[in-house]
Amino acid sequence: MIVTTKKLFKAAYGKYAIGAYNINNLEQAMGLFRGNLDSQAPFIIQISKGARSYTHKKMLEGLIRSAEEVFPEAIFAVHLDHGDEKTCYDAIDSGFYSSVMIDASHEDFDHNIATTRRVVDYAHARGIVVEAELGQLGGVEEHVSVSEADAKLTNPEQAREFVQRSGCDSLAVAIGTSHGAYKFSGTQALRLDVLAETQKKLPGFPLVMHGSSSVPQEEVERINKAGGAMKGAKGVDATQFKKAALLGVTKVNIDTDGRLVWTRVHREYFLEHPENFDLRPPGLVFMGEYAKFIAEKNDFLGSAGQLEVVRKALAEAD
Ligand code: 13P
Repeated sequence: MIVTTKKLFKAAYGKYAIGAYNINNLEQAMGLFRGNLDSQAPFIIQISKGARSYTHKKMLEGLIRSAEEVFPEAIFAVHLDHGDEKTCYDAIDSGFYSSVMIDASHEDFDHNIATTRRVVDYAHARGIVVEAELGQLGGVEEHVSVSEADAKLTNPEQAREFVQRSGCDSLAVAIGTSHGAYKFSGTQALRLDVLAETQKKLPGFPLVMHGSSSVPQEEVERINKAGGAMKGAKGVDATQFKKAALLGVTKVNIDTDGRLVWTRVHREYFLEHPENFDLRPPGLVFMGEYAKFIAEKNDFLGSAGQLEVVRKALAEAD
């Protein structure tokens, strides 16, 4: 069942965070639904601009609508990840998305507010909620590339003003994470103090953590052993997620870790089966491994086991 992101946030706020997973294809969709049902978790499917154009935006929509039928017990929202203004309007007009993210974080404060406000007005008039971003994460996320020097942490006082003036429904905060597989050159340092300060300025308001893949070292080692060359890859300590949830984070974005699972499975499979040219055997392994990965992530997020609680809350609200 596709639900509004707003209701998922209401159920989760202050208790746990919801996994927001980026997908691009059929195998990821299957693993995603299975993993979330195995761990009995509500979840958010994220579709990026790149994912929409990988095949055709209608292909992912069709895939997700089919998955909704195949897995009728699942409760999830569909979210546009890192939209520009034009893509946000297109996603809203499609009638398919529960929420959109307008990412104008590269613009100055007033322009970011103005762009976000335009999208918020358009979205709210059509019953869609909006995530915005203040501060700037480092790293590479499809078309957006931000150097470590240009990355900026969110200013909590500005966050309050931003939310009031833009009317956004949730806010992505920059607290030291970055997109991609190379997040920290030294020790990992999440700025939970910035998060705590932001929550004080915006009590009860849903916050979002981007760039939250853990880049498990075991995964990286297996990829490298099977022919990969990922030197120095490092991610976020997943034991921090529950602390972040208590500080108002309701959505945690994870993309890179899923790609690592795909890379490891396919590298190892074809190394062990050099004679094989069939895509389905590694595809089957991948779907199982992806489901396992999702279920493990939901344990860290605290969303595992919340599915029936959410179902009841939704039924009572209706
Ligand atoms: P990762 O690269 O850490 O998976 O972050 C993904 C993300 O934030 C998508 O918006």
